[in-house]
Amino acid sequence: MKMRTAAALLAATGFAYGQNASMISGPPWMHSKFTSSPPVYPSPNAIGLGWDAAFQQASDFVDQLTLQEKTMLVTGETGPCTGNIPAIPRLGFEGLCLMDGPLAIRQADFASAFPAGITVAAAWDRDLARQRGQELGAEFKAKGAHVILGPVAGPLGRSGERSTGLCEAYGHPSNITIASSADELQDYIGNEQETQRNPSENEDGKTIEAVSSNIDDRTMHEVYLWPFQNAVKAGVASMMCSYNRINGSYGCQNSKTQNGLLKDELGFQGYIMSDWGATHSGYPAILAGEDMDMPGTIGFTPGGPSFFGGNITKSVNNGSLPLERANDMCRRIMTPYFQFQQTSYPMIDASEPALAGNSVSDYNYTFNLGNQSDIDVRDDHSHLIRELGAAGTVLLKNTNNTLPLKTPKNVGVFGNDAADITIGLYFGSDPDLQNIGYDIGVLPIGGGSGTARMTYVVNPLDAIKQKVASYDEKALVQYVLNNTLVIDSGGFDILFPRPPEVCLVFLKTWATEGYDRPSLLVDWNGTALVESVASQCPNTVVITHSGGLNVLPFADHPNVTAILAAHYPGEQVGNSIVDILWGDMNPSGHLPYTIAKHEDDYSFADITNSTALLNTQDPNAWQSDFKERLLVDYRKLKYSLPLTIRAGYFDYVNQSVQYEFGYGLSYTTFSMGSVSVQPYASALDLSATPPAQQIVPGGNPALWEKLYCVTATVSNTGSVAGAAVPQVYLGLPQPANQDTTPRQVLRGFEKMMLQPGESREVRFDLTRRDVSYWDVVTQQWTIGQGSISVMAGFSSRDVQGTASFSPLG
Ligand SMILES: *[C@@H]1O[C@H](CO)[C@@H](O)[C@H](O)[C@H]1NC(C)=O
Ligand SMILES: *[C@@H]1O[C@H](CO)[C@@H](O)[C@H](O)[C@H]1NC(C)=O
Ligand SMILES: *[C@@H]1O[C@H](CO)[C@@H](O)[C@H](O)[C@H]1NC(C)=O
Ligand SMILES: *[C@@H]1O[C@H](CO)[C@@H](O)[C@H](O)[C@H]1NC(C)=O
Ligand SMILES: *[C@@H]1O[C@H](CO)[C@@H](O)[C@H](O)[C@H]1NC(C)=O
Ligand SMILES: *[C@@H]1O[C@H](CO)[C@@H](O)[C@H](O)[C@H]1NC(C)=O
Ligand SMILES: *[C@@H]1O[C@H](CO)[C@@H](O)[C@H](O)[C@H]1NC(C)=O
Ligand SMILES: *[C@@H]1O[C@H](CO)[C@@H](O)[C@H](O)[C@H]1NC(C)=O
Ligand SMILES: *[C@@H]1O[C@H](CO)[C@@H](O)[C@H](O)[C@H]1NC(C)=O
Ligand SMILES: *[C@@H]1O[C@H](CO)[C@@H](O)[C@H](O)[C@H]1NC(C)=O
Ligand SMILES: *[C@@H]1O[C@H](CO)[C@@H](O)[C@H](O)[C@H]1NC(C)=O
Ligand SMILES: *[C@@H]1O[C@H](CO)[C@@H](O)[C@H](O)[C@H]1NC(C)=O
Repeated sequence: MKMRTAAALLAATGFAYGQNASMISGPPWMHSKFTSSPPVYPSPNAIGLGWDAAFQQASDFVDQLTLQEKTMLVTGETGPCTGNIPAIPRLGFEGLCLMDGPLAIRQADFASAFPAGITVAAAWDRDLARQRGQELGAEFKAKGAHVILGPVAGPLGRSGERSTGLCEAYGHPSNITIASSADELQDYIGNEQETQRNPSENEDGKTIEAVSSNIDDRTMHEVYLWPFQNAVKAGVASMMCSYNRINGSYGCQNSKTQNGLLKDELGFQGYIMSDWGATHSGYPAILAGEDMDMPGTIGFTPGGPSFFGGNITKSVNNGSLPLERANDMCRRIMTPYFQFQQTSYPMIDASEPALAGNSVSDYNYTFNLGNQSDIDVRDDHSHLIRELGAAGTVLLKNTNNTLPLKTPKNVGVFGNDAADITIGLYFGSDPDLQNIGYDIGVLPIGGGSGTARMTYVVNPLDAIKQKVASYDEKALVQYVLNNTLVIDSGGFDILFPRPPEVCLVFLKTWATEGYDRPSLLVDWNGTALVESVASQCPNTVVITHSGGLNVLPFADHPNVTAILAAHYPGEQVGNSIVDILWGDMNPSGHLPYTIAKHEDDYSFADITNSTALLNTQDPNAWQSDFKERLLVDYRKLKYSLPLTIRAGYFDYVNQSVQYEFGYGLSYTTFSMGSVSVQPYASALDLSATPPAQQIVPGGNPALWEKLYCVTATVSNTGSVAGAAVPQVYLGLPQPANQDTTPRQVLRGFEKMMLQPGESREVRFDLTRRDVSYWDVVTQQWTIGQGSISVMAGFSSRDVQGTASFSPLG
């Protein structure tokens, strides 16, 4: 099924491959241009666009507040939740409860551990993504949480090593589901590494500033800001500013990103809150666009000093901060509260204070704390978790149709990742886990803010035993879960009375907040484990649980007959993989990143890190120049870009890869035909730039106008039902005097369930933004002169049909 059609792509796009990887992305990089961020002031006032009635309610509410109450509304306090805004009982306001995290209400008990964002990204399924958002939102609401600290749209995966992003990243931010009541988007611009994400002190007590992500304007718009634009368009209530700097200026006091890009250009009407401790000043950050400080105190000290709080009162009184800006902060916070009807909300589960590690008697303020403990909010969410966990599993290799398994009577199971968890079901902040996590036990989710307090985990080994017993009670399931033991024994034959018919090898890779993976290989000597098993088992099936990409040196091993990248599927991990292995679910996941052949192939965008930097005396030493510009992942070779733009370095330099962006096998086969593109009436007499219109959330509405429709026919040509993921990539013309345009960018995908023999048409609408580039001179989305090629297929390199059109004639 996999066609390598690089030559066809070349013909379609007309671009020559670059010969020198360091030259291909554009003119020489001038670091001196990235040492400051352009000032954009004043901070635009929200006017309630799209949220008119709620905005009026918020304005009336804010009119009644004293200055001190206004400071309370924008400054976090110690309380039962991850983040807390105290109640103002005088006005019937019950306060706000903000809770981690992107895949579960992290600290709570009796809640579900959903699949991680990387799994959602790999499923390419908007319906399942939306259902997950709804169920997750329902759990937060039932626990009394108003705001979900998630999903995460950054990092896009510039470097392979970045780990948090992987476990937290919500991969298809172009279609974020805003849960009905718990509505929050945690989003970071340019947060592509964890190393030095915060300032540090060196041995002499000197402050060394956080890493600066230096990003040019076109790349910002076409890659990093793109998912934020989708989120604002979808009505997101809140964003989080990041720890890192952007062009030398801290995320929470960067007026270009906050005032300029988010609030002005994208028309964002909600509020920007800091990541925990990411605020570095009071009124200067506020003037630059920050609206809420979390957790509210400097150094997280309960009751301690704050950049906000009393400093806001002083700044307003001494004229440094206009009162109108303070009012705008409050209106931005209260408008979504009214819009999403959070006025009479479920009370906060009484277990939360203890779970947050504090006691109610310490609180200096009132919160909406209830008297019911241990509220079980899981409902029937395990069904979706099991289904989505399987849907986000990508079948990478399946020699001789070794999968699905039929009814093997002798199954071998290997690897520490097959076992039940041995360290307890919550691994949020155990310092022992900082590096590669725990040894014996499956890894269904990552650590840090993005983890969950799991109520149970269905481990792979138990699920396999149960499955095998369901068709043959006498069948053998033999297992060795200690990786070192298998490797040291030079194989496994001594452990088995009879060699297994199939050897299932479970591998895992730890990811957690604050940690970049030092390697792209699987952890725990997993590569050696596979080599060891495969040296004696001719039918070795490898399953990886990982928050991101892994290079797979054994991919071409003749005895490795199948490989499944199972990502982080959540609490039903064992059932999800058994459903795939035995064919109860036909795999339909596709890679949201490229797996290169070698780790070195990603070197175009390594994270910034060295011994010298770790010992630097220069406060400004940590600089990360995003020199690859637009050529990320299939644009470049390093790794995951979640949805929007994928055609990059790897494709640009025509580098052969192991498994390309968008790739994934099925137990059936698909074909595609009749690829064509038709203009809508709106595409007649197009201007190159959008007509000026009033900005709405999402930016100029003309950018969202549908101009063209690509259609294709997709057929299931195999013998079992399965879901295809047709994808459409565009090759946009290279504008004069601009950075190198990627050869292809993803502009549409669908998930289609098809019965054997069934054919159906799929349609992809292309908006004005989809066919434009960001012109850095005119500061406009612009349709380039020339022909746009359409490449439709089942991955970034499996092109089944092409078409072309010239919007400007
Ligand atoms: C690629 O270009 C860079 C920058 O001009 C140069 O330093 C380097 O030597 C070139 N590499 C090759 C292999 O030509
Ligand atoms: C970063 O610097 C580049 C080069 O000067 C500029 O084009 C871009 O707009 C800047 N972005 C921010 C957020 O400061
Ligand atoms: C999200 O998907 C739904 C259903 O496919 C669609 O109606 C909606 O327009 C999409 N939203 C965005 C922002 O793409
Ligand atoms: C409450 O206020 C007192 C006095 O400022 C302070 O010492 C204490 O830490 C505060 N408690 C909390 C939980 O913030
Ligand atoms: C105001 O901010 C400064 C740091 O800029 C801090 O030292 C001081 O304690 C803060 N004041 C209050 C009342 O929190
Ligand atoms: C006003 O108050 C703020 C907060 O305490 C302080 O940082 C600033 O220096 C003051 N400005 C003047 C002009 O006194
Ligand atoms: C629990 O809270 C409800 C609602 O505030 C109240 O009616 C009830 O009396 C409380 N029960 C107990 C045992 O405190
Ligand atoms: C695949 O099938 C072919 C033909 O039946 C056979 O020669 C080959 O050994 C098989 N390979 C594996 C890995 O089972
Ligand atoms: C795994 O096996 C090795 C080699 O026999 C042994 O040293 C180690 O203690 C074992 N680990 C566990 C967790 O049993
Ligand atoms: C960063 O560099 C240090 C020192 O060379 C090294 O120990 C560490 O593993 C590096 N971190 C990553 C994520 O590569
Ligand atoms: C990997 O294997 C080496 C020896 O082969 C051993 O020293 C090391 O501890 C192992 N690492 C892990 C994580 O098991
Ligand atoms: C594949 O497995 C067979 C045992 O069936 C073994 O003899 C052979 O060496 C293995 N091949 C490799 C490349 O390890």
